[in-house]
Amino acid sequence: MRHLLSAADLDRATAVHLLDTASQMAATQAREIKKLPTLRGRTVVNLFFEDSTRTRISFEAAAKRLSADVINFSAKGSSVSKGESLKDTALTLQAMGADAVVVRHQASGAPHRLAHSGWVDGAVVNAGDGTHQHPTQALLDAFTLRRHLRGDADNPDGVGLDLTGLHVAIVGDVLHSRVARSNVNLLHTLGAEVTLVAPPTLVPVGAESWTSRTSYHLDQVLADQQPDAIMMLRVQRERMGGDGTGAGRTGFFPSPLEYTRAYGLDARRLALLPEHAIVMHPGPMNRGLEISADAADSPRAVIVEQVANGVAVRMAVLYLLLAKEKETTP
Ligand code: ASP
Ligand code: CP
Repeated sequence: MRHLLSAADLDRATAVHLLDTASQMAATQAREIKKLPTLRGRTVVNLFFEDSTRTRISFEAAAKRLSADVINFSAKGSSVSKGESLKDTALTLQAMGADAVVVRHQASGAPHRLAHSGWVDGAVVNAGDGTHQHPTQALLDAFTLRRHLRGDADNPDGVGLDLTGLHVAIVGDVLHSRVARSNVNLLHTLGAEVTLVAPPTLVPVGAESWTSRTSYHLDQVLADQQPDAIMMLRVQRERMGGDGTGAGRTGFFPSPLEYTRAYGLDARRLALLPEHAIVMHPGPMNRGLEISADAADSPRAVIVEQVANGVAVRMAVLYLLLAKEKETTP
């Protein structure tokens, strides 16, 4: 693996190996001394053209725990505001000697361009591009699903296993969601079944050819299909134009209240799920819109754990992209 650009590029064996490596990484994080010397002398640049809390911080934590040097770049406050292009920004960072560039960009395809343009020599990791892909999110989601739904007392992380037989419902603003696209790819590769649930206006054109089913009826999916996990998506107002609420004449649904009634996860809907089902959300959440506070804070919600797992998964990705073969595993 030279870059990580899309969850669709991962085959089953590579994905399982990444998850298994993340388990090893997670084990090292339970030790008193969390830092490993693995990437000493390597430089990881975090290149963020779009806002981020979890992804940026967890890539930084992951790189530092592997002893890499980390340079954080965010477009806000940089010369991007003076009109500097992606190319010139990339060349500037390359001049600083980046071994890996972790990039988030509002334009779908920007990481692909970086990886294949010759502007940077290092490995490129997609940390979210437009509405296209967010592969490390899909990996941390798969890691979380595997731990909760495939792990047992002898093998708590489900090491070596895939997600065959699991059913995941992905609910909400699929149209604007790179998390949904990445998860549809990776969950299928790992053997899980996916049902997308959204209003017709938030289902992408062409979704019928994806490796998932689509439904417009959340209650029906919860009651009849009994998914093992429900993954709520944020209503992505910043991608909706109009008045920015997603509602109204230029929007995608009649009103926030109607969206919540039809597609929000609340205590009543939580009770329709099977006992063992878990509640996921990539964050950030719109509490009260796609998820109620009691659902977000319920014992079934693994939302905070998803964030913690993100560090282990990103350590695994950086390790597998950057560590030399002769170096030992953690
Ligand atoms: N944080 C995720 C992303 O950047 C999901 C979201 O923003 O809703 O794609
Ligand atoms: N889940 C996720 O990517 O969160 P951030 O946008 O805060 O990085």
